[in-house]
Amino acid sequence: MKSNLFISEQELNEQRRIAADLYREIAPRNLTFFVETFGCQMNVRDSETIRGWLTEIGYSEAAEKESADLILFNTCCVRDHAEKRLMGNIGALKELKDNNPGLIIGVCGCMMQQEGIAKKLLKRFPHVSLIFGTNVLHRIPEMLRAVMNGERIAVTDRANDAIAETLPRLRDNQRSAFVNIMYGCDNYCSYCIVPYVRGHERSRRPENVRNEIESLVSNGITEITLLGQNVNSYGNDGSAGMHFADLLRYVSDVPGLKRLRFMSSHPKDLNEDVMQAIAELPNVCHHVHLPVQSGNNEILRRMNRKYTREHYLSIIERMRTLVPDIEFTTDIIVGFPGETEEAFEDTLSLVETVGFAAAFTFAYSPRQGTVAARMEDQIPESVKKRRLQSLNALQAQKTIENNEKYIGHVGEVLVEGFDERGPETMLYGKYQNFKMVYFPGDPMLLNRYITVQVNKTNKNSLLGEMIHA
Ligand code: 5AD
Ligand code: SF4
Repeated sequence: MKSNLFISEQELNEQRRIAADLYREIAPRNLTFFVETFGCQMNVRDSETIRGWLTEIGYSEAAEKESADLILFNTCCVRDHAEKRLMGNIGALKELKDNNPGLIIGVCGCMMQQEGIAKKLLKRFPHVSLIFGTNVLHRIPEMLRAVMNGERIAVTDRANDAIAETLPRLRDNQRSAFVNIMYGCDNYCSYCIVPYVRGHERSRRPENVRNEIESLVSNGITEITLLGQNVNSYGNDGSAGMHFADLLRYVSDVPGLKRLRFMSSHPKDLNEDVMQAIAELPNVCHHVHLPVQSGNNEILRRMNRKYTREHYLSIIERMRTLVPDIEFTTDIIVGFPGETEEAFEDTLSLVETVGFAAAFTFAYSPRQGTVAARMEDQIPESVKKRRLQSLNALQAQKTIENNEKYIGHVGEVLVEGFDERGPETMLYGKYQNFKMVYFPGDPMLLNRYITVQVNKTNKNSLLGEMIHA
């Protein structure tokens, strides 16, 4: 086992001490922060830690950017033109800084782990004074103290990827929470920047995962989503002492935990043991987010996905045998380098065959430093766009078909929100298998489990009525 797997308690105590010092200075001044989060659930979870620290340091949360004394962008670099958009967002803050010279502007997250970008930002934007990456969240008090002393800093230490436990956390949500089980990724899918920015795969200890869940549940949370880039490879480095299926078994019996979810799964690691655990544990939800990326074996090989179309379909079939009401969602990339018209048709036919409840579809976008960005046969944007449109049209059709089988369905919904725009207030929430349903009801029922029967479908959504609260 590596010796630097965890940040020491001593180091964390030092940060807590700095936070307490800053608190005495900051709290009486009624300063506020605003954190804007881009990207995936990992970043959402990281922002909870950042907001937790800022609260512990004495800031309170601002309602909007314009009135905040500290603005932080938590960035993503997985797809699209995120860098250009970020530059625009930061540029737009100059006026706020001119009006409030004490304003601290910071940028953090995955994009800051990319080579050279932190330096570039500091040079280009004198009003940015704080930059940090994804591996140093435990050092926020120390970093902020430096900035308050007039320094401009960039801490994007790639080598230091030890796990920090028991950091503070500020959550919005009173019903469900994300719990990291691992960090980083070792899969190196050829299109993906994540392994370069989030570092190699590290798993938390099972008892730390369970403790966090117990603490959340004792605070009223009933739905937990275990998070990792590839949760199915949990413990593969040997440091956790168990694999994912056993982790599911180990945490699922926390008293009061009604729903246990996890994401994302990698088809190459979703083995029989995990499938059995999903089938046998009563509170593990019947939903798997299983990114397929492509339905063509040659493209899957070039993507370095390490499974075939046939293997993927065999998982779907096996899971449906074990758990008949299971739903699958997926991620798909179109226009990967070398994707011929025939290869794309294979993706369409896979989508047709599986019948996903939903698919998140993306046009391939080259990420600097990845293997695919250097491949020949890059696909023109116009072709990617056309393929994306036809894939989306097919999935929209499949979503309608999938919805139709829910007419008459009765099950428990966890109420997530409400919409008061129409003639009557509509509540919405998900069945345990991730299907969302809308139904008339009282906003007082927020965060409660309500039995709902579906009686109509409406293109993308299910409409139902409350059977009993
Ligand atoms: N281009 C397009 N989509 C990508 N994804 C990851 N990297 C890229 C890229 N370079 C998609 C994959 C992944 C999801 C989180 O984002 O489908 O599963
Ligand atoms: Fe990226 Fe592949 Fe790792 Fe997912 S499994 S984060 S797509 S490298």
